[in-house]
Amino acid sequence: MKARITAHKSFVIGDIDRRLYGSFIEHIGRAVYGGIYEPSHETADDQGFRADVLELVKKLNVPIVRYPGGNFVSGYNWEDGTGDKARRPRRMDLAWMATETNEVGIDEFQEWARRANTEVMMAVNLGTRGADDARNCVEYCNATSDTYYANMRRANGFEKPFGIKVWCLGNEMDGPWQICQKTAEEYGRLAAEAAKVMKWADPDIELVACGSAHRNMKTFGQWELTVLDHTYEHVDYLSLHQYYDNRDDDTPKFLGRAEEMDEFIKSTAALCDAIKAKKKSQKTLSLSFDEWNVWYHSQEQDKSLEKWTVAPPRNEDIYNFEDALLVGTMLMTLQNNCDRVKMACLAQLVNVLAPIMTENGGKVWAQTIFYPFMYGSAFGSGTTLRAIVESEKYVSSAKREIPYLATSVIYNKEAREIVVYAVNRSLDEAMELDVALEGFEGCRLIEHIELYADDLKAINDKDTARVTPCHVDLRDDGQIILKKHSWNMLRYKIGE
Ligand code: AHR
Repeated sequence: MKARITAHKSFVIGDIDRRLYGSFIEHIGRAVYGGIYEPSHETADDQGFRADVLELVKKLNVPIVRYPGGNFVSGYNWEDGTGDKARRPRRMDLAWMATETNEVGIDEFQEWARRANTEVMMAVNLGTRGADDARNCVEYCNATSDTYYANMRRANGFEKPFGIKVWCLGNEMDGPWQICQKTAEEYGRLAAEAAKVMKWADPDIELVACGSAHRNMKTFGQWELTVLDHTYEHVDYLSLHQYYDNRDDDTPKFLGRAEEMDEFIKSTAALCDAIKAKKKSQKTLSLSFDEWNVWYHSQEQDKSLEKWTVAPPRNEDIYNFEDALLVGTMLMTLQNNCDRVKMACLAQLVNVLAPIMTENGGKVWAQTIFYPFMYGSAFGSGTTLRAIVESEKYVSSAKREIPYLATSVIYNKEAREIVVYAVNRSLDEAMELDVALEGFEGCRLIEHIELYADDLKAINDKDTARVTPCHVDLRDDGQIILKKHSWNMLRYKIGE
C-alpha cells in the first residue's frame, strides 16, 4: 500500500501549547499511595516520594499534572491535606468507596510536582462544596496577603506561594456518578460565581469549566450551551473527557476512534463559538482535553474490590500494543487540533489508567502507551502543519471511513526540525510512505523510530518489556516503510 503526506511551511494549524502533554494524578487506587508516594520504598526520598517513579515521570516530560481529581474532588475538603500529618483525618471517599488517609495533600503534591519538573492543574470541589472553599483554596495556594488562608500556608511551612496557575471548576458535574451531580443551570451559575471570586482572589489564574463527561452523554451539546451561557466571560477553557475501549475486540473500529475524538473536539469548539456569537464576544474560548485514554481492561476485576480499603488496586488497566497505537493516534489528533486544544491530560499517570506501573515495595515499569506519549512530548513542540494525507481508507463496523494512515506534522523552528508522527492502521499490509515537505530548504530524514509488535495484544510487565521502540535503519534510496499496525516518528533536519 502507498500513502503520501504533503505539508507546506505556510499552511499551519497553530502553535502547540506545551501543556498539551499534561497528565493527571487523582486520589484513587494506587495513583498516590503506592504510586508517586511510598515512604517505605527503597527509592523513597526525604518526603516519601518514589525516586524510581519520578525518574520515569521526568522521562515523559509532562508540563502539567491535574490534581486531586477526577470524581474524588467532588467530595474533597482540601484543608484535610494540609498541615501536620499526624492530625489529618481519615475520610470515606465516596467517589471510589475507599479510605482516604490524607497523608498526601496539596502541601505535598506541589512539592512532588516541583521535583517532577511539572506544574499543578488544581481542581476545586463544586460537588459538596462551592465558591467559598474554592476561593479559600486559591488564597491558600497563591496569595501573598497577610490574611487567614495565606497565613495558614505560612504556618504550615510554606512562606512562598505555590503559584498554581490553572484551576478546574469541579469535575464531570453532569455525571450521575458524581458526588452532588448538578443540572447545567445549577452548575453554570455555581461555576460562574466561583470563577468570579477565585479570580478576585488571584487575577492571574486561568479557569476551566466542565464540559460534558463524555461525548455520548445524552445532554452533550445542551450542557455546553447552558454552562457557557453562564460562564463564558469568566472562564478560559472548557473541558472535554473521553476514554475508548475495545471490549468487542474489533481492532479496525478501535483504531479508528481518534476520528471520533476529532469530531468531538470540532463540535465542542463549535458550541463555544455559538455562545461567542450569541454574546457578541471578542473572546475565543480554548479547550482543555483534561482526561483522555483507553479504559476497559480493569473494569471487571474492579467490581470485586473491597470497600473502604486504603489504596486498592483500582483501574489498573494493563495496556497492550493496540492500545499504544490508539493512544499515539489520539495524541496526533490533539496536535492536529492545537489551535483550539491548549491543554490536555493523559488520564492518568501512575498505576491508574497509566503509562507508568509500580508494584508496592517493588519495581516500576513503562506500559506500552508510555512510548508514543513520551516521543510526542519530547519532539512534538512547535507549529502543527496542515498536512494533506493521501491514503487508502477502510470502512469500520461503526460505518466510518478511516484512512489507513494517521499523521501529524510538526515544524519546530528553533530546532530546525520537522517531526512526522504516523500510524499505519492496516492490520496486514506495510505502507510505502512518501513525505513531501514544501517551502523548506533541503529536508533530510535523520531518524525513524518505530513502535511495533507482531502481537496486537502484547503487553509489558514488571519483568519483560515486550513492546519498546526501536530505531529503523534509514535506507539509501530514502524510501520509508511503515510496518503493518505500527506507530512511527520521522525526524527531518531542515538545511541551513
Ligand atoms: O480517570 C478516572 C475517572 O474518569 C475520573 O475520576 C473521572 O473524572 C472520569 O470519569
